[in-house]
Amino acid sequence: MSKPILQIIVASTRPGRVGLPVAEWFRDRAVAYGAFEVEIVDLAEVDLPFMNEPHHPRLRQYVHQHTKEWSTTVERADAYVFVTPEYNHSFNAVLKNALDYLHGEWQYKPAGFVSYGGVSAGTRAVQMLKQVVSGLKMLPVVEAVTIPFVREFVDEDGRVRPNDVMNQAADAMLAEIARTAPALGHLRGPEGR
Ligand SMILES: Cc1cc2nc3c(=O)[nH]c(=O)nc-3n(C[C@H](O)[C@H](O)[C@H](O)COP(=O)(O)O)c2cc1C
Repeated sequence: MSKPILQIIVASTRPGRVGLPVAEWFRDRAVAYGAFEVEIVDLAEVDLPFMNEPHHPRLRQYVHQHTKEWSTTVERADAYVFVTPEYNHSFNAVLKNALDYLHGEWQYKPAGFVSYGGVSAGTRAVQMLKQVVSGLKMLPVVEAVTIPFVREFVDEDGRVRPNDVMNQAADAMLAEIARTAPALGHLRGPEGR
């Protein structure tokens, strides 16, 4: 049997962002965990404009090529991990826009969170993000990676040097996603819907 596809969605798109190194660390951890086919989905590369589809996404009547491509990408996943910064006590607008573009593609899949920031470690962003992913019928998992004072974990080469807490949290979250992804797959139809 093929492994479930885990997409690691990089929310930050800023030049010089910490989000990409954090996602690359988590990607390596997820690959080593061994239960998933792992993909990084970088919203800076996806580069969606502000939502410009005329119809509600539940209808899947997409008129723009960027939406059709985004739909194909998101559809093929069995689970997501959102790597999210905290901007003004919330998650960032780029991620909300990317979530809003689609509907059924997200449904009945587990969602994990790697958050980072200052003293709050992005936890306020995750609390808000949980409401949105729940509205899209994803299943937010409880286990999470929360990285306070994230800059302290980035070395001169721009690579994340994790501590034991981060590694253990990542493995706990991956275990929960591996447990729930196949179960939720039964709630989706033959086309994954
Ligand atoms: C617009 C903006 C708002 C921010 N607001 C918060 C915040 O509310 N809480 C926090 O812990 N850090 C905040 N920060 C600091 C970010 O945690 C830090 O810049 C982090 O590197 C952002 O992630 P990124 O580099 O991947 O974009 C903010 C940064 C920016 C650019």
